[in-house]
Amino acid sequence: MKSSEIRERYLKFFEKRGHKIIPSASLVPADYIIPDKGSLFTTAGMQPLIPYLLGTKHPAGARIVDVQKCVRTGDIEDVGDNRHLTFFEMMGNWSLGDYFKKESIAWSLEFLTSKEEGLGLDPKRLYITVFKGEDGIPRDEESVEIWKENFLKHDITTGVTGTDEIINGDIRIVPLGTKDNFWIAGQVGPCGSDTEMFYDVRPENGPILGKFSDLVDAGRIIEIWNNVFMQFNKTADGKYEPLAKPNVDTGMGLERTSVVMQGKNNVFETDIFEPIISYIKSNSKKPDEKAVRIVADHIRSAVFIISDGVVPSNTEGGYVLRRILRRTIRFIDILEFPKESIFELAKLVINNFSYAYPELKQKENEILEVIKNEDERFRQTLEKGLKEFEKGTSAFDLFQSYGFPIEMTIELAKEKGVVVNIDEFNEAMKKHQEISKAGSEQKFKGGLAGTGEMETKYHTATHLLLASLRKVLGGEIVQKGSNITIERMRFDFNWPEKVTVEQLKKIEDLVNEKIAEKIPVELLEIPKEEAKKLITTLSFDLSKYGDIVKVYKIGDFSVEFCGGPHVSNTSELGHFKITKEEASSAGVRRIKAVLE
Ligand code: ALA
Repeated sequence: MKSSEIRERYLKFFEKRGHKIIPSASLVPADYIIPDKGSLFTTAGMQPLIPYLLGTKHPAGARIVDVQKCVRTGDIEDVGDNRHLTFFEMMGNWSLGDYFKKESIAWSLEFLTSKEEGLGLDPKRLYITVFKGEDGIPRDEESVEIWKENFLKHDITTGVTGTDEIINGDIRIVPLGTKDNFWIAGQVGPCGSDTEMFYDVRPENGPILGKFSDLVDAGRIIEIWNNVFMQFNKTADGKYEPLAKPNVDTGMGLERTSVVMQGKNNVFETDIFEPIISYIKSNSKKPDEKAVRIVADHIRSAVFIISDGVVPSNTEGGYVLRRILRRTIRFIDILEFPKESIFELAKLVINNFSYAYPELKQKENEILEVIKNEDERFRQTLEKGLKEFEKGTSAFDLFQSYGFPIEMTIELAKEKGVVVNIDEFNEAMKKHQEISKAGSEQKFKGGLAGTGEMETKYHTATHLLLASLRKVLGGEIVQKGSNITIERMRFDFNWPEKVTVEQLKKIEDLVNEKIAEKIPVELLEIPKEEAKKLITTLSFDLSKYGDIVKVYKIGDFSVEFCGGPHVSNTSELGHFKITKEEASSAGVRRIKAVLE
């Protein structure tokens, strides 16, 4: 079964069972979504849904299904083995406070085994893990019973392993602890125990017998699906608060599922990678298997990351993209591949995945342009940098002056038998990032300079200020610019003359009045057309945003299109004080203000 059909069947199966199909969210997470602010990219299907898993109503309803683009670069050095990828797609179905374990497990087994609607896998080759109970959270007896009942529908009686975790004969359910069967994205947020499904990919080797983890390590059984039963929200102080309504979050990797369905040994042999792997192999003078895989994986990641608007830089997501692209270029050279081939590779990726992501084709020129610029830039400095490397220049200087990603320096050093001083690099890097963070806060970034507590307060104060300006001055006042640091806010708006002291006082008083009224700040995620009706004067061009947009509403006082983040109640802001009013440019005034 082709990967395109697996994708199609998955979406249809759950659509038929009341789920609404939603498109993949961007690989770049919205600021307010990530509770621990640790993620540069979307790393799991549930991540863009965090607010809904915590109780906000989703515009598409309580049952959702999608295929989400994900990037995980923590194991980038491992790419090239049989399993690791930096980009992958995760199929998932969600219950947002709707169905729970019973339906979730029954549908999973049905999808895995149904020949008509699902994957038609052999139920006898399925193995299941459940949560054995740990850290004060009880064993998931319910899931064990539900699995047994559902296997019985296939005339399979099912046993549960003891503490030895030995699979044998009818014993196919394995209770495991927090490390394996409790799921959370990062440190805080919605979480819960899970049940995972594994498939025996080598039945020809005879009956299964052995410790579960050994069979997984040996590649005899592989994980294909994870159903998380979310019942808690883990808070920053480590507490597990029960959710008002439990959710189901599932994740089935499209690549792994394709391995199983196509009877292949690894993801690189599936139809997802086959065209690109054969292209690389047939054009390379030295087709080293690992390098071939690295290039195939990295170019795919790079194309998708760029398509979501990221450009190479020396910080955050831009730096991850830079590392991925520069590794691609270096391995293209190792493969002795013609230099221009990077564009052919990018085009292949675009063509292969446009059927599911038509935006790749639409953004083709843009994507190729970004790759071209980085390729040129890197090649210019590569030669110089290599000379510097030979002279023994520090890893940080190679990074800063010649754009050498640290792992590239490490790899080069390994080839030469020298050791890189990582501590020294990390120390210099930390200083560098602090400086560039301060720098980026000086720039206008659509009002989204940062997500610290103080910045969050200033975001909300900005909305109160804009609404107050409109009330006091009258007229169609819009935001012409905004800049927030932890110490103050700055706001530019269209107004032809100096704002008088009396007017400023009124504006200030009105903001403070709204703070004193303790108004809740609501986040609505609504169709763009609906948002346009709610918002009287738009400060932004909405045409470049998706169909569903984020709107923050402060009582009846302010409704603004905004990515956030915001405080949950105006009472959190403290006292608002305007410190300066001045001209910014012709017809634009600037107000500076602080929260005390
Ligand atoms: N959130 C779960 C995972 O990513 C389904 O495995």
